[in-house]
Amino acid sequence: EAVPVIAIDGPSASGKGTVAARVAEALGYHYLDSGSLYRLVALAAIQADAGDDPAAVAALAEALPAEFVGGRILLSGADVTDAIRSEDCAAMASKVAAIPAVRDALLERQRAYRRAPGLVAEGRDMGSVVFPDAANKFFLTASVTARAERRYKQLMEKGLPANIDSLSEELSLRDARDAARSVAPLMKLPDAILVETSDMSIDEAVRFVTERIA
Ligand code: C5P
Repeated sequence: EAVPVIAIDGPSASGKGTVAARVAEALGYHYLDSGSLYRLVALAAIQADAGDDPAAVAALAEALPAEFVGGRILLSGADVTDAIRSEDCAAMASKVAAIPAVRDALLERQRAYRRAPGLVAEGRDMGSVVFPDAANKFFLTASVTARAERRYKQLMEKGLPANIDSLSEELSLRDARDAARSVAPLMKLPDAILVETSDMSIDEAVRFVTERIA
């Protein structure tokens, strides 16, 4: 019997991160935030000034010296938990995520999270590529306006600089790039349940998902 996976995909700031973490906690399952891996590769690429060299970025992804300890994320031993949340890192993440060799390099690393009693995995291609046999697939989304407002609040709470108009623009640009790429594009699968969260609170979204887990 395969270890159960709940795949939650969707665009940035759709609420999928919070919802996935809450569902994992409620079920006592492991939790994979796959976007953080792409953000780590992006940060490594920025630090090495390798963003324009796909082969160099793929090599960084292959050797990624990342660790997840006690809720903190380390890159080569340095705490980058907050650094990888910057908009610069997000933009570079969506760029490096379009490199097929980068996605290949991260595949096994993501699948290793599938351990008993189960896994809640969130990202863009959890249901399509990484865990296509997941018994439960969800696609969380929300309007660009709702998502830009959420991201704005998150950044303000972290004391990071934010501008609502440029956030809207960056989100739209990143969505377009994630949806248009040839490898593992962002999309709603026919077998995924659509969750439109524009007018839902986090609690409502968590309940909506939980009630539909088969
Ligand atoms: O989810 P998050 O905003 O942290 O993801 C950052 C970027 O990483 C996304 O814009 C996307 O390009 C990429 N990503 C991906 N596949 C995933 C998770 C994230 O391509 N499974």
